Amino acid sequence: MAMEAAREYVWRGPAGPFELLVDPGVFVPSSTSKVLAEALRVSPGETVVDAGCGCGVLSLVAAKLGAGKVIGTDFSEAAVKCATANAERLGLSGIAEFRAGDLLTPVDGVLADVLIADVSGIPDAVAEVTGWFPDGKGGGRTGAELPVGMLAQAAAHLKPGGRVYLPTGTIQDDAAILAAAHEVFGAAMEPVAKKEFPLPDAVATSEKVAELIDEGTLHLAQRGSRLSWELTIWCCTLDQ
Ligand SMILES: C[S@@+](CC[C@H](N)C(=O)[O-])C[C@H]1O[C@@H](n2cnc3c(N)ncnc32)[C@H](O)[C@@H]1O
Repeated sequence: MAMEAAREYVWRGPAGPFELLVDPGVFVPSSTSKVLAEALRVSPGETVVDAGCGCGVLSLVAAKLGAGKVIGTDFSEAAVKCATANAERLGLSGIAEFRAGDLLTPVDGVLADVLIADVSGIPDAVAEVTGWFPDGKGGGRTGAELPVGMLAQAAAHLKPGGRVYLPTGTIQDDAAILAAAHEVFGAAMEPVAKKEFPLPDAVATSEKVAELIDEGTLHLAQRGSRLSWELTIWCCTLDQ
């Protein structure tokens, strides 16, 4: 049986360009990765945790922006192996390391200045028809399940004044994610980037997605004859 090859990927976002290898089964950086990286601010020497690191792209951006230490976590062992190899190839393994496990469990005992909170947050019904995720699975029925779980652990892994870069989209139950974020950060939440994307036809015609729209979980905008969804990157700051 032929083995699927790793995909060569050139990151052209902030701190790029640099080359990555994305192993089979590992998430390929997306438009969300790029918008999040554009919003990301890292001061020299800061400790960064990158939850849901995939091939390590945002960890490596943080390292190149001057982080003193970066720890990427991912539930997928394949992602952790792939990210570790990418850090080695880029000469960044002294700064960036990767650990497998659920949400922030692999960084128990670590206090970060910056938490990148990019765990899977797309409803299963959307993942099924888009191919955005290599295993065709999203982050649960509404897409809020994993981000909400991660936010519940966030405060225990941040220094006072630490900040979280949190992506939300109208293509998931963003109201549930924002309610969970407000519980932790109160009013200290600022939208630092926004971008609108056309909804892929396969999503617009999915019956399961239509159910999520009808019940008000997803709230898409009509743009002429097309539907679109909006991504927002939030910077949430923990009390000093
Ligand atoms: C949207 S991808 C983002 C990957 C990467 N940040 C990027 O920009 O390319 C989300 C990642 O979350 C990971 N993930 C899913 N469930 C997880 C969990 N329970 N704990 C940690 N990571 C998880 C997936 O394996 C995937 O790599």
